[in-house]
Order: sequence, then C-alpha cells, then structure tokens
Amino acid sequence: MLPQIQHRNNASAIQDKDVPKEVLDRLLRAGRLSPSIKNRQPWRFIAINDIQKKLELQEACYGDRRCKKGALIAACYATSDYEMPNGFSANLFDLGLASGQIMLQAEKEGLAAESLTSFSQSQAGRILTLPHGMYIAAIILLGYPAEKEKRDMSSKCLPSQRTINYNSW
Ligand SMILES: Cc1cc2nc3c(=O)[nH]c(=O)nc-3n(C[C@H](O)[C@H](O)[C@H](O)COP(=O)(O)O)c2cc1C
Repeated sequence: MLPQIQHRNNASAIQDKDVPKEVLDRLLRAGRLSPSIKNRQPWRFIAINDIQKKLELQEACYGDRRCKKGALIAACYATSDYEMPNGFSANLFDLGLASGQIMLQAEKEGLAAESLTSFSQSQAGRILTLPHGMYIAAIILLGYPAEKEKRDMSSKCLPSQRTINYNSW
C-alpha cells in the first residue's frame, strides 16, 4: 500500500476521457466497504458519468473545468447525524474515510482523484435531485492524469517531527 500512498497521480490536469462503468463500480464498492462508526454506513454515493450532468456540476463547482472530463462521485450523507463518544459528529468523519478508500482504489486503477469541497451545496443538491435533509460531503473528481509521472507526496508533507510523536505529545 505505502508505495501507492506515497506516489500519487496528479489530478490538477486530467484527460478528456471517460472512466469505464466497471471501474466506477469498483470505486463505489471500495466506498461501500469502508468502516463506519457502529457500522451506520451513513453514505449514499452518486456516480456521475453523463456529460450533461457533468457540465451542470461544473457550474456548481464554480467552473472547475475538470468536472466535465472524467467522472465524478458525490459522497452524500443520508441520515441524521450521530454524536460519537468523543463528542464529534460521525457523518463527516465516516464520509471522509469512505472517500479516502475510493481515492485509493482510483489510484490503483490508474486514475487521478481529488476531493472537491468548493461547490454550491444547494445547486449541486438540485442537480443531483437530493432529497431534503441530505448533503454532499465531497465531490470526488476522477480522471486519467494528463501527465504520466506520479508525484512523490513525501516532498509535500510536513516533517514527521512536527506531526508524529510516540507515547506523548
Ligand atoms: C477535504 C478536502 C477538500 C478539498 N477540497 C478541494 C477543492 O474544493 N478544490 C480543489 O481543487 N482541491 C481540493 N482539495 C485538494 C487539496 O487541496 C489537495 O489534496 C492538497 O492541496 C494536497 O495537494 P495534492 O493532493 O494535489 O498533492 C481538497 C482536499 C481535501 C482532503
């Protein structure tokens, strides 16, 4: 796993190329298999591969031109929230975990993936006909990378001395 986590495809430029449905199906499965608190599985995923919908979502994503190119997965949460024993809300945490699993599987499939949170919640919800009370945690942008070379993420991450300790702060 670690080599694939460390060396990631660059999603800043993606090819104008459809993502096959069987690949999308595997990404959705990776999301569904994610752990969640009390196994609540608060997620609902919407895969978007229709060009008209992608163009509409591009507008909701403030004109991000990558939206119309590959495919998108909207990671939505379905139920009322649950307060975890640590005092924080479960839904966004679980949706983040599931999105991470989708992104890892995407990497394995040769795709570049990026979570987008810069979008109009109301506009995107309308486009995807979300029922009242449901929200989109993130829109995962997926596409075949324009450049073949993977990036070494270790050059971008904070030094371990700053972010990791053993046994105490
Ligand atoms: C929760 C989350 C939300 C993000 N939202 C956006 C976004 O709205 N638009 C965007 O271009 N990138 C977004 N990103 C991508 C981050 O900016 C990116 O992962 C970070 O800068 C590291 O860069 P890299 O993954 O390209 O190396 C988001 C990432 C995460 C984890």
